[in-house]
Amino acid sequence: MGETYTPAPAGDAAEKIIVALDVDSAEKACTLVQQLAPPLCNFKVGFRLFVACGPPIIAALKELGAKIFLDLKFHDIPNTVAEAAEAATRLGVDMFNVHLSGGREMIKAAVKGAAVTAEKLGLPRPRVMGVTVLSSFSAEALQDTGVVRTLDEHVVALTRLGLDCGLDGVIASPREAVLLRQSCGEEFLIVTPGVRPAWAAPDDQQRILTPQQALQAGASYLVIGRPIIKHPAPRQAVEKIIAELSID
Ligand code: C5P
Repeated sequence: MGETYTPAPAGDAAEKIIVALDVDSAEKACTLVQQLAPPLCNFKVGFRLFVACGPPIIAALKELGAKIFLDLKFHDIPNTVAEAAEAATRLGVDMFNVHLSGGREMIKAAVKGAAVTAEKLGLPRPRVMGVTVLSSFSAEALQDTGVVRTLDEHVVALTRLGLDCGLDGVIASPREAVLLRQSCGEEFLIVTPGVRPAWAAPDDQQRILTPQQALQAGASYLVIGRPIIKHPAPRQAVEKIIAELSID
């Protein structure tokens, strides 16, 4: 796969980056978006920011031109997840996610909830993504939860289940991206955290790849947080990453 990689044009490279807005206030999140958009347009809002600021943060970021991946990893009974999916769609997010271990009915309820609400409001349906196995899980920790197949087998099986239920793709480590492209094909999205430019500190990420390596591994989008948001000049960090991914 590596040999066939062609660097993306600068515009395309910017579109592949999702900046994790792992900050604790609306002011910090909005300042980052103002600094980075354009050229960046994709931003991830996770538990920390959403719990601290609530739904108005989504409207505020969208007002600044941000496209939003709402990373709340829904996992509950199908009816509750359908209602959460409807609420996320009403907020106008572009992507949200569910835990695939919630099962077939729950996953289908999320996709349907998003589709029905989007149609009612005349909005594009947000992309619905699946979380396979959290990267914090070891093989032993997975077995403790009663899963008897290997971690890789489990990741592939959950991905197949999600795609069968109409999901747009999965969140996966770069290592899993290679496996998933080999076993499940090219026709779905893979969003990959654990990405570090060669010049950035690894922080607590264990199995890191550079942005270019992650795209080579099969990622559709790269989630990057600290190398950008903790950089003394976040815009410079972004420009460096885009240059590394782009044809001059
Ligand atoms: O700062 P950093 O680039 O490590 O941020 C990565 C983002 O992706 C964080 O928001 C983190 O919670 C998230 N994430 C991750 N690993 C996963 C799933 C999500 O790092 N397996």
